[in-house]
Amino acid sequence: AAPSAGSTTAKAKTSSSGDAVSLVFDKDDYTVLTTTITTGSGDHSVTYHFYKAVTYVAKPVDAAYQSLNLSVPVEIDGTAVDVSHAPIMLANIMGGYSSSSTNAATGVGYTGPIIGGPGGGAGGGAGGGNGAGEGATARQNNALYALANGWVVVEPGVRGRDNVAADGTYYGKAPACIVDLKAAVRYLRHNKHRIPGNTDWIVSGGGSAGAALSSLLGASGDSPLYHSYLKEIGAADESDAVFATTAYSPITDLDHADMAYEWMFGTLPLASGATAAEPYSTQLKDAYTGYLRSLHLRGVKGFGTLTADNYADYMVKAYLQPSATAYLTALSDADRTTYLTANPFITWSGGKATFTWDGFLSHIGHRSKNAPSFDALDVSAFENQEFGDATTNARHFTLYSLRTATGDDTAQLDADLPEKIRLMNPMHFIGQRNPGRSRHWWLRTGALDTNTSHNIVLNLAAKLDNLGDDVNSSLYWDGGHAVNEDADAMIAWINHLTG
Ligand code: DHB
Repeated sequence: AAPSAGSTTAKAKTSSSGDAVSLVFDKDDYTVLTTTITTGSGDHSVTYHFYKAVTYVAKPVDAAYQSLNLSVPVEIDGTAVDVSHAPIMLANIMGGYSSSSTNAATGVGYTGPIIGGPGGGAGGGAGGGNGAGEGATARQNNALYALANGWVVVEPGVRGRDNVAADGTYYGKAPACIVDLKAAVRYLRHNKHRIPGNTDWIVSGGGSAGAALSSLLGASGDSPLYHSYLKEIGAADESDAVFATTAYSPITDLDHADMAYEWMFGTLPLASGATAAEPYSTQLKDAYTGYLRSLHLRGVKGFGTLTADNYADYMVKAYLQPSATAYLTALSDADRTTYLTANPFITWSGGKATFTWDGFLSHIGHRSKNAPSFDALDVSAFENQEFGDATTNARHFTLYSLRTATGDDTAQLDADLPEKIRLMNPMHFIGQRNPGRSRHWWLRTGALDTNTSHNIVLNLAAKLDNLGDDVNSSLYWDGGHAVNEDADAMIAWINHLTG
């Protein structure tokens, strides 16, 4: 497919004869920027080398997306920093399964980079010019905190569900986004002697759909299932495994997300006051029981086998009450009293918060998506578009929605879809105990998030924990979608692992 017009200011050095773009990183092609970044330890003046829109594949379909920005700190608070062995924060800038470009001006939303914007250095992000979108907080915090802590920061763009060529064909449908992200990792490794930082310590991160992508990158490291796709775009022949994976409200496990959503939010009304569409809500909720059983999960912190019947108790005890307790402990006595008065579903005793599942659900109040949420019956969801193909913008990707929408109980998904669905689901690779996966996982979501159910990220955490991986998972009390409230702790965790 030919790239759409007007989208190629990236430095894709494709010659008119169609020669491949060089995969050799030009370490001298940077600008020097200085910015102030505020982290938990205060304001930091950071001077860094900024490399803009570096194309990371030899045969780009559209270099406007298949390019990355790289930021290398050289001086922090007046002291020179040595980044030769620093971790590399790979903060993908994807949201909504849309294409994300290193060329997007800051201010256009969350599919643009955080650092080095036209507003002057990191001010594009930190100054609030960017970050309007849902996945922005997680990326913004991790990219900026990493830079201020002397890490190298890479912000790769990727193709997405919206990319359409001049001839009307789509060129960014699944699995393009993960193929591109893997290609970016391979590019870094290919240039490990030219790019500062330690490619053995790549830390992936993202928010929302970007968190889904980050989880998938971590889970599917070095899987041969992507090889033909990587070859097609001229990705470097290197490992695409990453050391650690961070994910904030991952919108993932898409082929089971409708069931999980009804399991968790099925009793809640929409913001309009309307109830979710039936019989879909009840049917999907009932189907979740079998899916959960098939996962054979044991809960973290010594919980036994997780089932649809004990999962609410698990979520309350292992995640929600500890999260509320931490939140309330940090408040002043007066603020805590005010909070508890406004939220009588919480019992505060002996320095601990307790409450029931139903009390917690009433605190959330309403669901934000109708049923089915992700494979919408009218194929109107982002996810329907993600699973489109070159000539179809949006398709069903679950038998439930396909058969319900068509009224045909024997209807089958398009033949290419089962594999693409697998290539987009980290649970598949974790279930296969993929040996190339990350072994360190930082998983978060906000307790009030209703973009997807909490089970999605907590199932991921349990499955990885059950394999013996190092999993740090928690919920931010009263946090929303894709927030990141402990970037300092994430940085400290990695610094400890790599120190
Ligand atoms: C995003 C949010 C969603 O609710 C969703 O279904 C997919 C992606 C996002 O913000 O990236």
